[in-house]
Amino acid sequence: MMTDKLFLGRVLSFDRRPEGAEDEAALSYHADGAVLVRGGRIAAAGERADIDAADAEIIDHRPHLIVPGFIDTHLHFPQVQVLASWGRDLLDWLNTYTFPEETRYADPEHCAAMAKGFYDGLLRNGTTSAVAYGSVHATSAEAMLSEAEARGMCMIGGKVMMDCHAPEQLLDTAEQGYEDSKALIARWHGRGRIRYAITPRFALTSTPAQLEAAGALCAEHPDCYLQTHVNENLAEIDRAAELYPEDHDYLGIYERFGLLSERALLGHAIHMKPRERDVLEATGAKPVFCPTSNLFLGSGLYDDAAMRARGIAGAIATDIGGGTSYSMLQTLSEGYKVLQLQGQQMHPYQAFDWITRGNAEALGLRGEIGTLEAGSAADMVVLDCRATPEMALRAARIETLAEELFLLMIMGDDRAIAQTYVGGAAQKEG
Ligand code: GUN
Ligand code: ZN
Repeated sequence: MMTDKLFLGRVLSFDRRPEGAEDEAALSYHADGAVLVRGGRIAAAGERADIDAADAEIIDHRPHLIVPGFIDTHLHFPQVQVLASWGRDLLDWLNTYTFPEETRYADPEHCAAMAKGFYDGLLRNGTTSAVAYGSVHATSAEAMLSEAEARGMCMIGGKVMMDCHAPEQLLDTAEQGYEDSKALIARWHGRGRIRYAITPRFALTSTPAQLEAAGALCAEHPDCYLQTHVNENLAEIDRAAELYPEDHDYLGIYERFGLLSERALLGHAIHMKPRERDVLEATGAKPVFCPTSNLFLGSGLYDDAAMRARGIAGAIATDIGGGTSYSMLQTLSEGYKVLQLQGQQMHPYQAFDWITRGNAEALGLRGEIGTLEAGSAADMVVLDCRATPEMALRAARIETLAEELFLLMIMGDDRAIAQTYVGGAAQKEG
């Protein structure tokens, strides 16, 4: 019989989105806490004294914080070697660096090698689940999903569908994109902890016939996810209007082809018209805030308050390689500043809720990931707010949990991740 494991530390998770600094009722926090793990799942989490774990192996992380593993809801596997490429703006960056780079993912050996670096980077940064784009090649999705499976991770992803306006080697066809996606769905969707995302890249690189095929896939597989990009950049929006003049607006294109549902994830969603927010509200499709990418490519400022005013709870993500860090802590830091520029505030409770429970909820996966509720996978992160000398110096003046979390999100990165667990198994060396 496998022995139970009892993780000791200060245990924190969120039951719902905190309304602000005073809303401590939204969190479960146990200063003398413990998480009991049995067979890779959480059996109990709370006060150590309340948990019956007589025969468990003890893993002592005191005085660190134990929180649910982070979830990255939008990033690109074939861009691990695009990250930090100098460029003018989105379309320039795509054409100059990103498209040429993605042609390399026709090679399964290259895919396999890059998949290792991709997950090593995510796990070192405390990200235990992600929603990722492959390249157009089925082999890239294959490598991306099989490496996640080997590591026991809950992973969502798919091969990109793109059949126009990109280099020849990166194009499928409406039919081939449909067939390849269909075969990948049959092979991967619901296999262990893996789920499939139907992935038309964006309106600029798909013909109407391909978007129609993507819509057919969504209709045939309503429990698959759908991911794409929308309203990231002004030149991109103009181009979408040229290509699809009959639609109301950019989101209207995806709406017409039946791509929008609660399972749809829309990267960026920066320059939104009021009607487009209506469509999000009506369909339940989720906008995804990608702060480091939006700043790096000069794309614009995501208006979180306008979304939340309508009850739209977006997700948050790195968008590697337009994004500049694997770290969800750094993503929060930049996200905080993006909201500051618009007179909006992100409280540290809301921030840590967002990258755990909030993102899990956006994916419809609460109960599996994002909290420390009994029954969830034991995907956890151990946070050390004294990870660097500068953080330790600052931490000496900290009095509250909120201050500690804020220090972690503003100054923290992979060094603040003392350990990452997937299904109760340690992922970081040392
Ligand atoms: N829009 C279409 N493709 C991409 C991509 O790879 N990155 C970003 N940031 N935006 C896109
Ligand atoms: Zn993207």
